[in-house]
Formats: sequence, structure tokens, C-alpha cells
Amino acid sequence: IERKATNIHWHEGDVTREDRASMLGHKGATLWFTGLSGSGKSTVAVALEKALAARGVLSYRLDGDNIRHGINANLGFSAEDRQENIRRVGEISRLFADSCVIVLSSFISPYREDRELVRRMHAESDLDYLEVFVDCSLEEAESRDPKGLYKKARAGEIRGFTGIDDPYEEPASPELHLRTDSMSLEEEVEIMISSLQTRGIIA
Ligand code: PPS
Repeated sequence: IERKATNIHWHEGDVTREDRASMLGHKGATLWFTGLSGSGKSTVAVALEKALAARGVLSYRLDGDNIRHGINANLGFSAEDRQENIRRVGEISRLFADSCVIVLSSFISPYREDRELVRRMHAESDLDYLEVFVDCSLEEAESRDPKGLYKKARAGEIRGFTGIDDPYEEPASPELHLRTDSMSLEEEVEIMISSLQTRGIIA
């Protein structure tokens, strides 16, 4: 991006990320849920949030539909706007993860390059980042059609709808791969919790 601000300096505080982690009893991290509309990104994030809360772990969900009502209300669905959407949300995720929250970010994020940018942001800040491919066939997502959007897209009432007349680039090597048309929600939550434990993010 074009940087417009000059003469700006990063200001360090006296409370470190490690201090925050010991206050909370877990580390921060970002779980980035990517997949088609209707693949189950939000459902999976909601279930994980509940399971983490039951363990006393602080998490927070960032969700495409919600974020687009507020901070990203000025963005549409062109490739350029989706890129800016993901860049901003990537930065927000990085801040939350630095604050020691487990961030659950659910965005279609159809472009590999945009997702790689978010991964790099986290690597730069030495923060754990897990890409979670919420995988479900287009046929299945379309048959669920919870918001009736696929129907509208097929009818030509929505243009540039992901999976119909706009691309979705599947992750090549996601940290986690959830097949929501064959796995149960409980199984998926179990996979995510044990992955967070294995990585030493939560106890
Ligand atoms: S993106 O591609 O990551 O920037 O999209 P995201 O911010 O996740 O927003 C996706 C939700 O917006 C609704 N919607 C569309 N999706 C895809 N393509 C088009 N053209 C479109 N128009 C509106 C849709 O409800 C998506 O929500 P989910 O939760 O994914 O079903």
C-alpha cells in the first residue's frame, strides 16, 4: 500500500506480550477461517469460541458480515476491495493477537495472495497464525444457502459472487483442514483445541 503518513514512530510500552500472557494464562494467536460463503466459517468459529470460553480462554470473533457493517462499510466485493478488506482485518487480527486474545477471523478471503499477506504480518510480529480451510463443496454450500445469496447469484441479481462468477483460490497447505460436509462440529472443535494445545498456545 501507499504510505501517506511520514514522521511516525512506533511507541513501546512497559508491559510486554509475555506479561499479558501470564496474566491471562494463554498466548494470543490468530485462527484464520477461509472458505466459500455457507461453508461454515462462522458456525465453526462460534463453536470454538464457546469451547475456549469454557476453558477460561479469551477469544474474539471477527466476521465478514459484521466487519462490513462498521470499519469496512466503505468496501464492496471487487478484487481490490476484498484485498483491502483482508488487509485491514489482518492488521486488526495482528493487534488482537498481540493483546493475547485468540482471534477467530472468518472471511471468505478468496485470494491466496491476500491470505499470504496476513500470514506474513503475523510472522513479522512473531505471532502464531493458523490458516483453517473450511472446506465444503460448492454444491453443498449452495444447497445450504442460509441467506439465499446463491439463489440470487444464479438469478443474476448479485454479480461477482464467490464460487459462482468470482474465484475462490483454495489454500495449498493450510495448518488445519476441516471438511464441514463430512465432519461433525464436535470433531472440528476437538481438532482445533488439540492443535492450539500442541502448539503451546493454550494449556
Ligand atoms: S471477502 O471476500 O473475504 O472480502 O468477503 P467477506 O468479508 O468474508 O464477506 C462475505 C460475506 O458477504 C456477503 N456477500 C458476498 N460474498 C461473496 N461475494 C459477493 N459478491 C457477496 N456479496 C455479499 C455474504 O453474506 C458473505 O458472507 P458469508 O458469511 O461468507 O456467507
